[in-house]
Amino acid sequence: MPRILDVGCGQQKYPGAIGIDMNPDTAADVLCHLDEGSLPFRDNAFDEVHATHLIEHVDNIIRTVEEFHRVTRAGGIIVLITPHYTDFSSFCDPTHKWHLNSFSFRYFYPEGIHGHDHWYSRVRLRQRRLRVRLLQLWRYLGFEFLVNHSVRFRRFWEFYLCYVIRGKVMEFELEVIK
Ligand SMILES: C[S@@+](CC[C@H](N)C(=O)[O-])C[C@H]1O[C@@H](n2cnc3c(N)ncnc32)[C@H](O)[C@@H]1O
Repeated sequence: MPRILDVGCGQQKYPGAIGIDMNPDTAADVLCHLDEGSLPFRDNAFDEVHATHLIEHVDNIIRTVEEFHRVTRAGGIIVLITPHYTDFSSFCDPTHKWHLNSFSFRYFYPEGIHGHDHWYSRVRLRQRRLRVRLLQLWRYLGFEFLVNHSVRFRRFWEFYLCYVIRGKVMEFELEVIK
């Protein structure tokens, strides 16, 4: 059985996971405020960390991802699901502190940014999978397929098209490198 942590689990805890949340009116097994210290788990305690619609709420994304990395074993995965900044929900929820795009987590990737390693953090994650979902109309017209099919097209979409062909949600599956 994989050891799974669901961070910010809310009412719908990931099946088989230990859930943590700051809100006692949730399915959390452990109450914990991510902005007020470390996760209450030892290093490498989990095979998978899931955070669904959580990362846009925290004070410090870099520090939070570093904590997810610490509690996940080498080769384990971190799954982050978060709105694309062009989705209605990104700016509608007044508790969202961050508005992200499909390249926002590349600062953790081993290839670095502009030839520089360790831009903001020494933590390393490899992107195993990224799924960008678009609004239904654009999905029916085939844009979702194109955005997910080619990194070059995704970059073109982020630079030139996404204010019209709006994103909805992004699902990052990131492998922990230690
Ligand atoms: C939008 S809800 C998502 C709930 C659930 N993951 C889902 O997808 O249905 C965000 C959850 O993260 C929790 N949360 C937000 N900021 C947090 C923080 N700093 N520390 C711990 N939990 C937090 C909230 O209490 C809430 O339950």
